[in-house]
Amino acid sequence: MRLSRILLVLALVLAGGGLAGAPSVAAPRHRVGYDAHSVTVDGRRVLVQAAEFHYFRLPSPDLWRDILEKEKAAGFNAISVYFDWAFHSPAPGVYDFTGVRDVDRLLRTAEQAGLYVIARPGPYINAETSGGGFPAWLKLVPGRARSSAPGYTAAYRDWLGHLNPIIARHQVTRGGSVLLYNVENEYAVNTDAAYMQDLQDVARAAGIDVPITTNLCCDAGSWSSTWGSGPGAVQIPGVDDYPQSFDCGNAATVWGPWGAGLTERVRDDAPVFAAEYQAGAIDVNNAGYDACRELTGVAYTRFFQKGNLILSGATAFNYYMGFGGTNWGWLPQPNDVYTSYDYGAAITEARQLTAKYDEYKRQGYFLHAVAGSLTRTDPATAPSAAGLETAARANPADGAQFVLVRNPGTADVTSTLDWGMPDGHYLLPVTLTGHDAKVLVGGYALGGQRLVASTSEILTHETIGGRDVAVLYGNDGTPGTTILRYAAAPRVTVLAGRVTSAFDPAAGDLRLDYRHTGLARVLIQGAGRRPLLLLLGTDAAAASFWRADTAAGPVLVRGTDLLRSATAVAGAVALRADTAAAGPVEVFTAASAVTVDGDGVATRRTTSGSLLGHLPGPERVTLPALTGWRQHAETPEAAPGFDDSGWTIAGKTTSLSPFVPVTLPVLFSDEYGFHTGDVWYRGRFTATGAETAVDLNAITGKRGNYLVWLNGRYLGSAAGGVEADSDAPGNPRPGPGTFPVPAGLLDPGAPAVLSVLVQNMGHNDDWTAEDTRFRQPRGLVGARLDGSAAPITWRIQGTAKVDPVRGGLNTGGLYGERAGWTLPGHPDRDWPSATMTVPAGVTWLRTGFRLDLPAGQDTSVVLRFDGTPPAGYREIVYLNGWQLGQYGADLGPQTDFVLPAGLLRQAGANTLAVAVIATTPGTVATPHLAVAGVRRGGVPVRDVP
Ligand code: GAL
Repeated sequence: MRLSRILLVLALVLAGGGLAGAPSVAAPRHRVGYDAHSVTVDGRRVLVQAAEFHYFRLPSPDLWRDILEKEKAAGFNAISVYFDWAFHSPAPGVYDFTGVRDVDRLLRTAEQAGLYVIARPGPYINAETSGGGFPAWLKLVPGRARSSAPGYTAAYRDWLGHLNPIIARHQVTRGGSVLLYNVENEYAVNTDAAYMQDLQDVARAAGIDVPITTNLCCDAGSWSSTWGSGPGAVQIPGVDDYPQSFDCGNAATVWGPWGAGLTERVRDDAPVFAAEYQAGAIDVNNAGYDACRELTGVAYTRFFQKGNLILSGATAFNYYMGFGGTNWGWLPQPNDVYTSYDYGAAITEARQLTAKYDEYKRQGYFLHAVAGSLTRTDPATAPSAAGLETAARANPADGAQFVLVRNPGTADVTSTLDWGMPDGHYLLPVTLTGHDAKVLVGGYALGGQRLVASTSEILTHETIGGRDVAVLYGNDGTPGTTILRYAAAPRVTVLAGRVTSAFDPAAGDLRLDYRHTGLARVLIQGAGRRPLLLLLGTDAAAASFWRADTAAGPVLVRGTDLLRSATAVAGAVALRADTAAAGPVEVFTAASAVTVDGDGVATRRTTSGSLLGHLPGPERVTLPALTGWRQHAETPEAAPGFDDSGWTIAGKTTSLSPFVPVTLPVLFSDEYGFHTGDVWYRGRFTATGAETAVDLNAITGKRGNYLVWLNGRYLGSAAGGVEADSDAPGNPRPGPGTFPVPAGLLDPGAPAVLSVLVQNMGHNDDWTAEDTRFRQPRGLVGARLDGSAAPITWRIQGTAKVDPVRGGLNTGGLYGERAGWTLPGHPDRDWPSATMTVPAGVTWLRTGFRLDLPAGQDTSVVLRFDGTPPAGYREIVYLNGWQLGQYGADLGPQTDFVLPAGLLRQAGANTLAVAVIATTPGTVATPHLAVAGVRRGGVPVRDVP
């Protein structure tokens, strides 16, 4: 390690990598409080700007830091995190918090990144995870889930008994990052106050002393009247809001079908908290996540989020999701999602930043800059502007005004803002494009300056090297006016761009008029204030800035594609930054030298007083072709002579499930301890020769099917039952399949074997706290012979054992999964070269490839299938034993599967294994490797053991 790097690392550790006042490694304990206006830390008001992050959807702990640094760089000061019970507990009493489950490390990483955490341990989390976070073994525990039933109570207390101590030691009150503790999730119907109270009592007993919140949905009002006081009431109720719906397929036309996106005030003594504010969508109509990103894109984010801040006065919000990630293994709840949980978020599943990220940054930096005023406001008289919506809030102490100006229509509107405020009355021209929104600021202390009013929005303002540097912005080509107040005419120097200025000595107003184009630079000096460098840019120019704090004050950086952190080291500023291409870098800093990722950068001073240098880009990456595939037929379970004597006998006649089996015995796979992935059944009967058909029912969850063999002959497949299927009278029996028995296949008096492979696509959630949903069985629920009353005796087989590293959700009960065909070390040399032609049933493909990706850069690699997903088969993909994707027409539109660094050996050998499950014989597609993004920089990523 070079000395400069050692110094950098040392400085980072000392600085805690965090913002002054935000949590850091060595930070002292803090007091957390709140009032009607905001959360406070040590009495200082905090505007909580959170992004939702699910560590369990990013199985490479070093990459947690990558995402958290990216959230921080967008201006967020917090993350909101669900903890998924099922992800940690494969069996009752068994808990794992190591490796990709090391939540202590996650919370430390948040501390190092300078981010607060809203901890959401459930027990119920929803989140489109299997069971909504409930481990499937909970189906066998008596007592209604999400109630104070004793069986459920004992189970969740065990979970929280393991998790709460970890959360407790990372609270802000103990020098850590956890700022708020969220019990339950959208607990709106079938509620039980004693249960809500117990969750809080259990947390308090474990030392949780930060404010407790919950995320309400649906009808916050009724919740508050029931729960506003008395048992179960929380201190800071939050409200979930998804104004854009999940209709990604109609992204171009959808505009607020689920309401105005205004967060309700639930308690008078607590701040308004948007616990989940829509920032993406689940892809319920298989439109693809780019469409979801469009549905919840820049226009939506500006119009709805800015509107909510001013109209509802929310001072705490959480964008759901900040980064969605991957439903690897059997993590997803199948009704709403498939492998990808990209969510159309601002940071893609492949960890790339999008245009939406730029908008988050514009808003995030603004909120960071004005938080001191904006966290204590009341509604105020709004200026008027014909053709536009307006609203205003004002801070009663400092008089600052925050004015929302929105264009509800789709056409551009040019208007005049008639704005009365403490500093005077102004008529200002404004132009808003369709569906755009601005938050304009007036009567505001902009560092050492007095901002009277501006029709440009504030990106940020910093005091750097004894002068103020402010960045203001507006849509490309639109007019802007900024008015500043001085005792006498200041000296105005336009360094770049076209800006006219006029000073009105009577009012003391310096008025600047301009059009937003590129980046204009104006230096304003004298008149008794410290110098101001005013940077006036377009939206794009604003998004090109990055800000970070150092012990020697803030820095602004332009030209990099990310700024991860900045540290003041002996007169120099050490940046950690990513670049997508070689190019200029400009740093506004008090320091006289710059290093980037440990390397010195030659710079010169500009007329703006900044340092200008040049940075290299990443090296080109070429990925190997995937060749040398080998193929192995599987499905031995279909053969009549297969030895199933070690399998579990499925002979139960009763079950805890509220679902009444179509036939006996009970064949629900959960009853026999098989909760995950594919399950095999073998049923024996004595043939009569009169059988005409096999009549089956199976429940797989959406996107699942089952395949049937009789005496080794493939009879066909059927779609499994879904969440909507129940045993209620009048409902069709779930997942029916009638399979005619081929003539001559069964000999009278001879033993016969039925083999059935049933996919379990994951468990329903429990959104409405009704056992009928969550406890819906998986596997066969009915089996009989048409034409014969002969009894069938059954054996069942599922997942072999829990993978100690990859956990209980990684594999199911396919023969190859049980025999380790997914694993890197499996000897496949004797497997024949792949023909890619497969029979109905299960076939495995394997190949290997070596990577030697350039060090010091972040290469995001995906496995890509070309064309639209095919029908007739599905492919389950394992990288180095980790199940990272399920591909096929029945499953969803996904064709790119992210291979996260850490699981992907970036320098070394990798193994791909693919289980093909074909319902009809055919030829299967093979994928290739592709690059989703390359940046110089990144974070060091070690191989996940
Ligand atoms: C919310 C829920 C989240 C997630 C989201 C949709 O209602 O609280 O857990 O399911 O909907 O993605």
